[in-house]
Amino acid sequence: MIVSPSLLSADFGNLARDIEMINQSKAQMLHLDVMDGVFVPNISFGFPVIKYVQQLCKKPLDVHLMIVEPQKFINEVRDCGADIMNVHLEACNHLDRVVQQIHDAGMKAGVTINPATPVCLLRDIVAKLDLVLLMSVNPGFGGQKFIDNTLNKVKELRALIVETGSRAVIEVDGGVNAETGRLLANAGADVLVAGNYIFKAQNPLEAIETLYNL
Ligand code: DX5
Ligand code: ZN
Repeated sequence: MIVSPSLLSADFGNLARDIEMINQSKAQMLHLDVMDGVFVPNISFGFPVIKYVQQLCKKPLDVHLMIVEPQKFINEVRDCGADIMNVHLEACNHLDRVVQQIHDAGMKAGVTINPATPVCLLRDIVAKLDLVLLMSVNPGFGGQKFIDNTLNKVKELRALIVETGSRAVIEVDGGVNAETGRLLANAGADVLVAGNYIFKAQNPLEAIETLYNL
């Protein structure tokens, strides 16, 4: 399993230490949650923090934008060193164009859907994507409870990916721990994002390894 720890749950007073832990770990990416207080009812961090993280982090950056009008910031996200730019389907009126612009900027394109957004809305875009991020909580906060219906959505998305010949990987974000991670692995997820389960663990390296081994 590919593991993408969510920095949102890290200790921001000891960011360099926590990123060094990620560097030493089996995590293959680092997940960065950008929130604007409009698309979601919370504000997290922005470009200066991501630039700092990029200087220290040896793993690819998986940037999850929970903001309205994400197309306005494609170049800024690229200049921060993002490898993957995830935009919400619910935040884009012209999703096909945004995906094209992300690719033109040299990044991998990910599209994220909220728990109440059906997988079928991805039908006409999935073949152009590198990643689909399924939210398994309502976005905005770490430490929430996993929504079980996500397991059905992973299976439905896998079928759509096969049918359309898409190369997209399936990433799941929210309430992931050893138990829900196992269910997601069985359902067919490729990438697990985890914040609290990793950063609030007694031994974060061990928590990452547990997910990695699923
Ligand atoms: C939620 C964020 C998540 C969050 C996950 O809006 O997109 O990435 O950090 O946190 P946990 O793993 O604690 O649910
Ligand atoms: Zn996220």
